[in-house]
Amino acid sequence: MVDQMEFDAEQLAGRFPDGFFFGSATASYQIEGAAQEDGRGPSIWDTFSKTAGKVVNGDTGDVACDHYHLWAQDLDLMAGMNLRAYRLSIAWPRIQPLGKGAANDKGLAFYDRLIDGCLERGIAPHATLYHWDLPQALEDKDGWRNRDTALRFADYAEIIAGQFGDRLASIATLNEPWCIAHLSHLHGIHAPGHRDIGETMRVIHHLNLAHGLATQMVRSIVPTVPMGIVLNTHSIMPHSDSQADMDAAERAFQFKNGVFCQPLLQGSYPDSVVEHLGDLLPDDYASDMADIHQPLDWLGVNYYTPDYVVNVPKARFPAAEGKLRGDLPKTDIGWEIEAKAFTFLLKDLNERYTLPPLIISENGCCDNTGVGSDGKVQDTMRRKYLEDHIHAVADAMEAGVDIRGYLAWSFMDNFEWAEGYTMRFGLVHVDYVEQTRTLKESGRWYSALCRSTGG
Ligand code: FCB
Repeated sequence: MVDQMEFDAEQLAGRFPDGFFFGSATASYQIEGAAQEDGRGPSIWDTFSKTAGKVVNGDTGDVACDHYHLWAQDLDLMAGMNLRAYRLSIAWPRIQPLGKGAANDKGLAFYDRLIDGCLERGIAPHATLYHWDLPQALEDKDGWRNRDTALRFADYAEIIAGQFGDRLASIATLNEPWCIAHLSHLHGIHAPGHRDIGETMRVIHHLNLAHGLATQMVRSIVPTVPMGIVLNTHSIMPHSDSQADMDAAERAFQFKNGVFCQPLLQGSYPDSVVEHLGDLLPDDYASDMADIHQPLDWLGVNYYTPDYVVNVPKARFPAAEGKLRGDLPKTDIGWEIEAKAFTFLLKDLNERYTLPPLIISENGCCDNTGVGSDGKVQDTMRRKYLEDHIHAVADAMEAGVDIRGYLAWSFMDNFEWAEGYTMRFGLVHVDYVEQTRTLKESGRWYSALCRSTGG
């Protein structure tokens, strides 16, 4: 008998063409644990999470979901959920413990096992080279503030391409450069926790350069692997219909999204950014533009919540600030829920730029519902969030946006950065003491959706 859950999932699946793939995503530091094992070097997140006051409850990724040891059962669970694609990230400090030099064989061996494990189970492995775990040794030399880190990143990409390139469904260079630049160097919330606009502008440029150099490096070794980058392009809208808020929204768009989209897709920085902050970019930045502006095979878009902005006249460029709408429901992390803002974002990007095919590389909901006395996790908010947002993706496709796949964040609950283990985004519940996994109701629904699609 087909229950209502299966029926809803089938109806939704019917909105996607053959070949559109559904899967899930995770990131190395958030799930692997085994922080000191097999020669892994320390990363900036080891340092940051062990610094008092940076992460809720002093949580760290030392053990996390112990995926480093439990990877086979985790992949079995994914296969059982009919997930056709898995976006994983590779921990740079497992491959080059000091961020340079020869590869660490044991680190390579772990990802060999993981990638082969995906392929054996019919799951397409999509690798992200950098999901924030910078080797601490590079941070000690100024991290992303230092242009040399972009060159080191290309060397690391060379190792990955040579070892895994022919087995990967795609490679993304960086995850969410906005978080690496703005959130980590301007707002001080993520590692390394700085607050400096000059540093932020340098980091933006060095990230763009790192992407371009790594893309060229990988292509010189495995020309066939689809190369992309994952951006958390903000869905930026004015908080009111006043001209001042509309202008602020446009400035915020360029400062948050344009500083990545425009160099990557068009080979230049937005005029407004150059006018107001150009003197903070590295002196010779223009000479890097050709390296940065490489053709993309795909672009990853991560979306969680709308970004309504107000004009803040006396503040530094972009003289705009995000402000909650107030009338929207919120997830358990406090992020407002608005599925149509997701459709808006996808259409907006498509109108502003000539885009390569898009992949929704992350989308999901913090719903902290735990395991009930019946052994089930009734996470109805997540289930509804996913359903509404996947419809929003289908709406954007109907409006002409070329989107090829959707990856739910996240396969399982994990270390949610500055929020530690307090915020849960998984389709699978993790008991961090026992290391047990429990498929949530949202996960059961998502499995039905994945089963109904061609893959
Ligand atoms: C994104 C990150 C991901 C996860 C989700 C909730 O910004 O890429 O690692 O933390 O947010």
